[in-house]
Parts: sequence; structure tokens; C-alpha cells
Amino acid sequence: MRLLIFLICLLNPLNTWCSSLSPKATSTILYVGTYTGDGPNDSKGIYAFSLDDTTSTLTPLGLAVATTNPSYVLIHPTHKYLYAANEEDNGRISAFKIDSAQAGRLTFINQQSSAGSAPCYLSTTKIGGHIFVANYGNGTVAVLPTDANDGSLKQYTGFDQQTGSSVDPDRQRSPHAHCILLDKIEQNALSADLGSDQIYTYRFFPNNGSLLRIQATKIARLGDGPRHLVFNSNQKFVYVANELKSTVTIYNYFPSLHSVQTISTLPDGFTAWNSVAEILLHPISENYLYVSNRGHNSIAVFKVDNNIGHLELIQHINVQGQTPRNFNITPNGKYLIVANQDSNNLVVFSIDSTTGKLTATGSTAQVSKPTCIKYLVQ
Ligand SMILES: *[C@@H]1O[C@H](CO)[C@@H](O)[C@H](O)[C@H]1NC(C)=O
Ligand SMILES: *[C@@H]1O[C@H](CO)[C@@H](O)[C@H](O)[C@H]1NC(C)=O
Ligand SMILES: *[C@@H]1O[C@H](CO)[C@@H](O)[C@H](O)[C@H]1NC(C)=O
Repeated sequence: MRLLIFLICLLNPLNTWCSSLSPKATSTILYVGTYTGDGPNDSKGIYAFSLDDTTSTLTPLGLAVATTNPSYVLIHPTHKYLYAANEEDNGRISAFKIDSAQAGRLTFINQQSSAGSAPCYLSTTKIGGHIFVANYGNGTVAVLPTDANDGSLKQYTGFDQQTGSSVDPDRQRSPHAHCILLDKIEQNALSADLGSDQIYTYRFFPNNGSLLRIQATKIARLGDGPRHLVFNSNQKFVYVANELKSTVTIYNYFPSLHSVQTISTLPDGFTAWNSVAEILLHPISENYLYVSNRGHNSIAVFKVDNNIGHLELIQHINVQGQTPRNFNITPNGKYLIVANQDSNNLVVFSIDSTTGKLTATGSTAQVSKPTCIKYLVQ
């Protein structure tokens, strides 16, 4: 068929089929959250880059907006606004307007309290009416409504103070909420509390934006320190990245959390310090799970059996930098970009759609202390 179109186009290049032979180059804008500082080489806020979807080249678009320690960013489902967690003692969330005319520019709208200290994670509903925040510093979670007209944030309407502690004397003396995420039907939200080795389940009420705690599940392996989690689409399973012991635990979600398997994210025999950070399922197939190792400085790739919730380790790939705090997969499932916090670089990997495995593309970019990558898909 392609050959036939090719021959037709040789004779008549204006035939409408011919455009399929040379697909237009497209690019994706990404926003990168960072830790900021006062030095000349320190980050000053949120940076923007453009990723060429064909060549995988990353082009810096500069500082999108100055703001303090925007360690986690979130793009509103309408693609009109971006929200950033300002990770400070007196935690705040900032709202910005995405400039549709000038790629990569953000304009400040307003700011609200995150209802805790050191906010480190944001999520939202499918329509974007509420923003969920986890405050690592003092173990609280909150929900803030967004204004449908201008994207501004309102004062929080939902709140919970997590409680308890666990066995690690340095990291688990008090609660540290590390994420909060709605399930796929947006009935309940789960929050991983690294400090108390618990996963909290909340009922979410969209009518008034409140959160009702319905369960706190103590994990079986004390000291694992649950950090981030993902659901698969049919929400049969929850995959939890355990920061402190470098493991992933798969849980059955219904009727209550029940662990199915725990697997290491490290190669056999690796005994040096490591700490797990981000976890993501492949957005298209959900057949592969990716987890970042800070210390071993790799991405661990697992093949997922979404029928029985079983993981099989298939690859470790070097991240070409230090401390892969975050990574994100492009919405088309083609690329995975790693943010290496301590080597100040972004590194682009391509994803083999049949095997799920990663290959370095050679594309990289510099940015000081990157901590979060989000794609703008228009
Ligand atoms: C900033 O970066 C430049 C270029 O890499 C380097 O020469 C300079 O020493 C750095 N300054 C500081 C304060 O780190
Ligand atoms: C955490 O911060 C919130 C908002 O300031 C406050 O209501 C809560 O009491 C704090 N929790 C602890 C344990 O200090
Ligand atoms: C929010 O709405 C739900 C459902 O109507 C109700 O059960 C709950 O009490 C309300 N919460 C608050 C804080 O108003």
C-alpha cells in the first residue's frame, strides 16, 4: 500500500494521500520543576523545553517563570494552567497561566497555603476542579478547588493530618505524606505515608471538596517507606514504590489493599546505598513498569502481568547522571525522560514498544536540580 501511494505521489505530488509519506515534524513542550537557589548557576523556577518527537532533540526554551522550589508541577487537564508545589516550611501551591501564544511561558495567577510543610506532590481530577497535595514535612494532605473561569486556586476544602511512626530512626519518626492520587473512578484517593509505613484511603466528595479518611493500612514490611503509587486502568492493582528498601509492592485494590508480591528494584548483589523515587506504568500498553533508583542511578524496567499482578525484572539502564528523582513518559509512549537531580541533567531514552526496554537516544539537556517533568499536550 505504501509503495502504491509512493508511485502515485511520484506522478501527482499534490494528491492528498501524499502527506502520509512525510508526516509533519511535531514537538512536545515539557515543564521542569526544580530546587532553586541564589547562586548564579542555581535554578530560579520552572524551566521549559521542547522535545522533537522525531529526532528526540531537547531544545531549551528558558525560564518559564521564577518561583521558589517548585519541586512538583501539575498541568491542568484543559492545558490552560500549571500548578506548582512550592516546597518550603510554610508550604504553598502556586497557579500559573500557560501562554498559548508563547511556548513555554507561564504567568503567575495566585497562591494558596498547601495546609502543611514541604509539599512534594500534586494530582487532580479528570476535569481539574480540585487539586490534591501531599505535604511531606508534617504529614498532611489537602484538597484545593480551582476556579473554572481563571484557574486560580481557592483555600483548601479537604484536609487530613496523618499520624504514627515506624522503624527507621532517621526517616520514620513522624508521618511524611509523599503522594495522594485518586483512583480511576475518582471515588477514593490513596496516600502513601513514608513516615508511618501506611497507605491511607480517603473518600473524596467533589460536591464540597472534602476528604473523609476511611482506612489506614499498615504495610506488611516495616521500614519499606512507601513513596509513590500508580493504579492500572481497571484499578485491579496498585503498584507502590517503597523508597527506603528499594522495592515495589503490588496490591490488590478491591475490596481492600492486599499485597500480592514485593520485588527488589536492584540487581542481585548490589549492596550500596539506594533510594527509590518515581514509578510509572507505560501509558499506552500498561505492560511495563518503570522505577527510578537513586544511588544505583538506573531505571529498573519490569514486565507486568496485569491479570495476576506479577512483575518480572527485564532491564536496568544507567541514567547517565546522578539521583534520578523523577522521570516521565511522553503521552505517545515513545520516550522516557529522566531528571537527574544531582548531575543537573535531563536524559532522553526511547521505549521499544514491543519489549518495553529503554535505549539512550543521546539527547540530553542541562538544568540545575531538576525534580519533576510534565508534558504539555495540546
Ligand atoms: C557556574 O558555572 C560556570 C560554568 O560551568 C563555572 O565556571 C562557575 O564556576 C560556576 N559558578 C559557581 C558559583 O558554581
Ligand atoms: C501541619 O501544618 C498544618 C497547616 O499549617 C497544621 O494544621 C498541622 O497542625 C501541622 N501538623 C503538625 C503535625 O505540625
Ligand atoms: C460533603 O458532602 C458529603 C456528601 O454529600 C457529605 O456526606 C459530607 O458531610 C460533606 N462534608 C462536609 C465537610 O461538608
